Amino acid sequence: LEGFFAAKSLAGKKVVLTAGPTYEAIDTVRGITNISSGKMGYALARACRDAGAEVTLISGPTGMPAPIGMTRINVDSARQMHDSVMQEVGRADIFIAVAAVADYRVKNRSAHKIKKEAGLPQIELEENPDILATVASLPAAPFCVGFAAESQNLLEFAERKRKKKRLPLLVANLAQHAMGADSNQVVLLDDAGEHALPDMPKPAVARAIVEHLAALLNR
Ligand code: CTP
Ligand code: CA
Repeated sequence: LEGFFAAKSLAGKKVVLTAGPTYEAIDTVRGITNISSGKMGYALARACRDAGAEVTLISGPTGMPAPIGMTRINVDSARQMHDSVMQEVGRADIFIAVAAVADYRVKNRSAHKIKKEAGLPQIELEENPDILATVASLPAAPFCVGFAAESQNLLEFAERKRKKKRLPLLVANLAQHAMGADSNQVVLLDDAGEHALPDMPKPAVARAIVEHLAALLNR
């Protein structure tokens, strides 16, 4: 009963999260995406909700149903995700970027299905906006949490990312281990250093991240 009446760690906070992959169209039926399942982002959205936060989940295409007790906004491309985040983040206390955002989009997208007889397609790429870096550099930025998906030199690359985007908290994980899986082993990086968590199901990882985040926020 004591737990039931205890104040929830994110009570009264507004949280905006991104989750899942993005999809960058090549033509009307094909596109560039990645193996992100959205499970980590959805688990974090639920953990924030359970901690008492008002949650807006901005999701790439995952095929998962919207979790109850929050607002979900569906997007496809990185630019749609960026625009949706910018609309929502103004009132947010916390922004958590879990999405595996495509770094590049197709510059010469075809308005019709590309035909084989036209020859080998030449796909030109251009860079997408960095949503997290943009939000973190806003004058009245919310508390920003990033994820770093690396395939090698995890802690070195992740800490470099945290410094570059100037994030108070970054979750480092190995892309090949985390993406699409049901469990995850992460290291939390903040100004105090490294905090390694054990390999756990994603909902448990999400609860641990929320606890850590709430402790930093309410310090
Ligand atoms: N991110 C974002 N917008 C982008 C790219 C990344 O918001 N266009 C966010 C991700 O949601 C994640 C963090 O930035 O929280 C790091 O993403 P990651 O792909 O690991 O790093 P990048 O900065 O894109 O660098 P690289 O892919 O070269 O490692
Ligand atoms: Ca990237």
